Amino acid sequence: MAETGSVRNFHPSDIPHIMDICLKTAADGEDGSAMYVDPWFIGQLYALPYVIRHPELCFVATIDEVPVGYILGTADTEGFYRWMEEEFLPTVRLRYPVDRSPVSAHEAFFLPRLHADKRLVRVDPLFPAHLHINLLAHAQGRGMGSRLMTTFLQGLRDFGAPGAYLHVGPANTPAVSFYRKMGFAVLEETEEVIKFGRSLRNIP
Ligand SMILES: CC(C)(COP(=O)(O)OP(=O)(O)OC[C@H]1O[C@@H](n2cnc3c(N)ncnc32)[C@H](O)[C@@H]1OP(=O)(O)O)[C@@H](O)C(=O)NCCC(=O)NCCS
Repeated sequence: MAETGSVRNFHPSDIPHIMDICLKTAADGEDGSAMYVDPWFIGQLYALPYVIRHPELCFVATIDEVPVGYILGTADTEGFYRWMEEEFLPTVRLRYPVDRSPVSAHEAFFLPRLHADKRLVRVDPLFPAHLHINLLAHAQGRGMGSRLMTTFLQGLRDFGAPGAYLHVGPANTPAVSFYRKMGFAVLEETEEVIKFGRSLRNIP
């Protein structure tokens, strides 16, 4: 049967796939499996909290009914980080103490972030929402990223958020092109990271 791609609302049975996709795209968009001792580590930071807190803002791309990509995020980053700090991270931090061993270089990089107080993050009121989008390699370049993004931005608009931001590594040139095509513009740029933002006022 020919492969057909779809975009649909999140279902709880997607969670293992989402965690896997997060890992398989964790190296600037490419497979990060070799970079982590614990395959769940990166998804606990950048995927799972969003689907738990905002399942209505999580959308999944499938091919032949199998999840191959997702977009997720929050309309209220400060509120989301407060929830992470108070409800989600305390238990996760017990599992990943700062002196955890053995850890990979990437885990060593992210461990202090996992333990940093998220409530200290200040967010531009023009861009209170943020998001993450990832598709497995074989699902890229066939328009599903665009469909995920359009669906997500329409969802965010219904929450009344005026704008959304995201971070991307400058080395991830396909994603940089994708975000520009989707109407995002550079807000800040360093050698390590580009912060893109997009107003949600002109979402159809
Ligand atoms: C970035 C990503 C979400 C884009 O989704 P996608 O389904 O591959 O993109 P689409 O097919 O919808 O393409 C939409 C537009 O994005 C741009 N684009 C997509 N892939 C591109 C590539 N490899 N090179 C240059 N531009 C690209 C093009 O402008 C394209 O429009 P066009 O088809 O008219 O040329 C997806 O490739 C992905 O998940 N990559 C790996 C994970 C990742 O890097 N996530 C972002 C982390 S910040």
